[in-house]
Amino acid sequence: MLQVHNVSKYIEYGLVRKRKKAIVNNTSFSIQAGETFGLIGESGSGKTTLSRMAIGLLRPDEGAVEFAGYDLYSASRGDSKLLRQKMQMIFQHPDTACNPRKTLLQSIMEPFVLHPTLRKGDDHEQIEEVMNMVGLQPELLRRYPYQVSGGQIQRIVLARALLMNPEFIVLDEPTSMLDVSVQAQILRLLKHIQKQRKMTYLFISHDLDVVNWMSDRVAVMKDGEIVETGTSNKIMKHPTHPYTQKLVQAFLYTDR
Ligand SMILES: Nc1ncnc2c1ncn2[C@@H]1O[C@H](COP(=O)(O)OP(=O)(O)OP(=O)(O)O)[C@@H](O)[C@H]1O
Ligand SMILES: [Mg+2]
Repeated sequence: MLQVHNVSKYIEYGLVRKRKKAIVNNTSFSIQAGETFGLIGESGSGKTTLSRMAIGLLRPDEGAVEFAGYDLYSASRGDSKLLRQKMQMIFQHPDTACNPRKTLLQSIMEPFVLHPTLRKGDDHEQIEEVMNMVGLQPELLRRYPYQVSGGQIQRIVLARALLMNPEFIVLDEPTSMLDVSVQAQILRLLKHIQKQRKMTYLFISHDLDVVNWMSDRVAVMKDGEIVETGTSNKIMKHPTHPYTQKLVQAFLYTDR
């Protein structure tokens, strides 16, 4: 379904003498329809940058991305718009996901403004349906973002993404800001929705336990490159790359 071919992204650094550095370096991976592909790695290893390139939000300096047979960065305007609707991303910081000056209802209506073709009959019926799916009362949408909890915001952001009828969702550390019990609820909800809607996920986290529980296959990222890919079981039981071995060791010897 998704193929990422040898993508790289460079940044310029140095104030006087400008130099180029790769933050994602010649990286490839692919995701099958219906699968959850986990991405794990330390902070700054390039997980968010790589997934933004994979979903059409950030043009790679080198390489290409193919989704459902389309080349994402050379598709026509019409095709790109359709593709953007099919691929959604839930961002790392739930608190910045909704405009603080708008009610949550205004925020959740945004997809209808951006993609008028999504309007199939009654808006409110559609909104009620996705709110039910994420387990929230639709009345909550009368409030402003500061009047709901972090877990509720994350559910609303998810509801807004579902309204677009996506086939593929990138979940960038969707629960890292939440406490453990709410985290578990949201992860279960994500799995449930995936089954119900036959969705494909790219799931990012730096928590090995969480990534393993969610994912069919896991890729380990370090310094802008994927150093190892395998089933969750293989990564935990037979890690081959020294960095993965360190990661698993650290995980096994942490008190929990
Ligand atoms: N637009 C940018 N300009 C300059 N540097 C950037 C830019 N975007 C990302 N970086 C740098 O690239 C590196 C990778 O960033 P990225 O956000 O992809 O990491 P990450 O793996 O998602 O980290 P985290 O787990 O903390 O979210 C970091 O060192 C970051 O500072
Ligand atoms: Mg990130």
